[in-house]
Amino acid sequence: MSLIRALPNPLATAQQDLEPAGRTPLDFHRRLPEYAVTPLVDAPTLAGFLGVGKVWVKDESWRLGLPAFKILGASWAVYKALEAHSGGIIGAWNDLDGLKEQLSPLLPLTLAAATDGNHGRAVARMAKLLGLKARIFVPADMVPARIEAIRSEGAELVVVRGTYDEAVARSAEEEADGRCLVISDTSWPGYEDVPRWVIEGYSTILWEVEDELGRRGEGGPTLVAVQIGVGAFAAAVTRHFRSPGVSPRPKILGVEPARAACALASAEAGSIVHLPGPHDSIMAGLNCGSPSVVAWPVVSKGVDVFVEIEDRWAREAMRMLAGAGIVSGETGAAGLAGLLALAREGYRAELGLTEEARVLVFNCEGATDPGAYGRILAGTAGDAPDASR
Ligand SMILES: Cc1ncc(COP(=O)(O)O)c(C=O)c1O
Repeated sequence: MSLIRALPNPLATAQQDLEPAGRTPLDFHRRLPEYAVTPLVDAPTLAGFLGVGKVWVKDESWRLGLPAFKILGASWAVYKALEAHSGGIIGAWNDLDGLKEQLSPLLPLTLAAATDGNHGRAVARMAKLLGLKARIFVPADMVPARIEAIRSEGAELVVVRGTYDEAVARSAEEEADGRCLVISDTSWPGYEDVPRWVIEGYSTILWEVEDELGRRGEGGPTLVAVQIGVGAFAAAVTRHFRSPGVSPRPKILGVEPARAACALASAEAGSIVHLPGPHDSIMAGLNCGSPSVVAWPVVSKGVDVFVEIEDRWAREAMRMLAGAGIVSGETGAAGLAGLLALAREGYRAELGLTEEARVLVFNCEGATDPGAYGRILAGTAGDAPDASR
């Protein structure tokens, strides 16, 4: 069995000009507790492994007090949803306590979300910060460390028998209750505003990268690798790098796990398809059966190549990132893992992996399952360490 399957995207359009998200979400994030620009790490050892000029790792292993980037989308979507729900009572505020005070006429109010781990924890954290309740729906196979992390935010946790997609379907039923706002990072027909705000919220990462490269006087990436679960993050990345005036226009690679490569399958089919579970990758954040309907129009036109990979590539990438001083969970390492797989399996030309290439990857998650992280680094989970190859 091959360890990867790659698909040059048949739906990609060369001249796509999208409007970037604007800097309003970034201005919002700056007002949140613990906001700090995350590091853009120059990683020459990784560049050496890939045989390219540069590799930058945007390190999201710690973002707004949580070990993943997802709170950027969750926080902006929560704020926009509260604004829409409040009937105009929210006025000016300087910090989250100021915002929280203005929400008292809306109480009691619950935020609901389905999650593979990180989005749900982020929604629960926002609820805690704003004095709201949270009800988080998780698939049956979620590892205990991630369940405990969500519970530690004070959320009510509902384990749904089935996959992430079934947890999403269950969370959608909460919308009928006037005292509950569903904050989903994926979308379905009739539920599109919140997932659009989630995508907008992720734009903060891209503005930070652009600003940092500008400060350093460096040109932009020629290749960007992005992890795909439902495709909201990839939509944010695509929107940014396919906006007018971006030069060079980088190639975009979308990386998914085997058996949950719903974007690759949808591109192949020409429209959204659903992949039934089980979705059993260790890249838990990417275990999704369908692309989000609001993300798909952007992702399907802007991503150049999709690749699905077996878990061993993620383990190897985690060890390489650790060697470069970066703590990366299974999903966090997936972007680099996809690149490694393609470079080794003969796809260098398609991706422009030359000595001049400048590659951007996102470490979108830290060690969210510390036990597994330790075993993978020690080489006692799955295959043996081979980062030296
Ligand atoms: C850490 C991390 N990275 C990437 C993703 C994938 O993002 P999306 O579902 O928007 O494609 C997820 C999804 O949960 C995640 O938790």
